[in-house]
Amino acid sequence: MNDMDRGSIVIVDDNANNLQVLSSMLQQEGYKVRPALSGEQALRAITASPPDLVLLDIRMPGMDGYETCRRLKATPATAGIPVIFISALAESEDKLAAFAIGGVDYVSKPFQAEEVLARVRAHLQLHRMQQSLEGLVEERTAALCVSVASLEESRAAYRRMLDQTIAAIAMTIEKRDPYTAGHQVRVAHLAVAMARKLGLEPERIEGLRLGATIHDIGKIYLPAEILSRPGRLSETELALVRTHAEVGLEIVRDVEFPWPIGMMIHQHHERCDGSGYPRGIVGDEILLEARILCVADVVEAMAAHRPYRAALGIDKALAEVRAGRGTLYDGPVVDACLALFEQDHYQLPPSLAG
Ligand SMILES: [Fe+2]
Repeated sequence: MNDMDRGSIVIVDDNANNLQVLSSMLQQEGYKVRPALSGEQALRAITASPPDLVLLDIRMPGMDGYETCRRLKATPATAGIPVIFISALAESEDKLAAFAIGGVDYVSKPFQAEEVLARVRAHLQLHRMQQSLEGLVEERTAALCVSVASLEESRAAYRRMLDQTIAAIAMTIEKRDPYTAGHQVRVAHLAVAMARKLGLEPERIEGLRLGATIHDIGKIYLPAEILSRPGRLSETELALVRTHAEVGLEIVRDVEFPWPIGMMIHQHHERCDGSGYPRGIVGDEILLEARILCVADVVEAMAAHRPYRAALGIDKALAEVRAGRGTLYDGPVVDACLALFEQDHYQLPPSLAG
């Protein structure tokens, strides 16, 4: 709206003389004026082309000013147009009624030209400010929606990349060590199912899934022949194998995962009674994710084939965790694991190594 365009006004009055006086007064001030002699005529004019303001008489034959205003306010396209009543009705109930149905102001007849002009000016200005504010809010909201959407998109892309990187790291370990091929994936599968059974938050379970998928990452440091050689390992070799928890932590220590992945890796061989390694911590000192990972690891390792022995089977694996419940292994974690296999008929994903 430029300076020349001061605003358009529809004036409604059944008295042609009043209409004439008001129209010429406002036209002189530079407003675009459309007169209407009845409520019906006014509604048609306003609907066809909504003005910036309506000056509305109350007492008119046919549709009166109140009803005209009510209909304007009931239509979304015209509800926001400010309506100033101009009427000879001077009782305060009349004024209150006018405000109650949505009028913004009330001018009594006979009116003072200056008063009408001042009120018209003020309400047009207010209306414009309101509109530009609404426009600004709409604009900002739209911009915000776009940023939120792109933020969600990049978050999803970042998660995908993280997932793929973890999978690539897991594959690196398994390329060197065919006997544990799929071990980490199956442990992750079981650990996630146990965590769900235990009611962990989905976001926390996602962290556990990723941690479990690379929990043996430290084995990359071990000579491949130790990992793949059939037969029992010597004490020295066993001691070397046990360094994989420490080495695993070292490898991921500087990665800023949104989950305690390093602690999961470091603690997955700890036992609740302190008999585990590398630190021999006990009970709640061990991260819950690591306690879950530990049981999943034991069950999967016993159920699957190993270089030094054939698969012991799931029954032996479950008997082991049951026997160690509350000592080696966390009680509720063991219960979740047993319930999965014995009640929910959970099955580990197929092992490639047979
Ligand atoms: Fe391990």
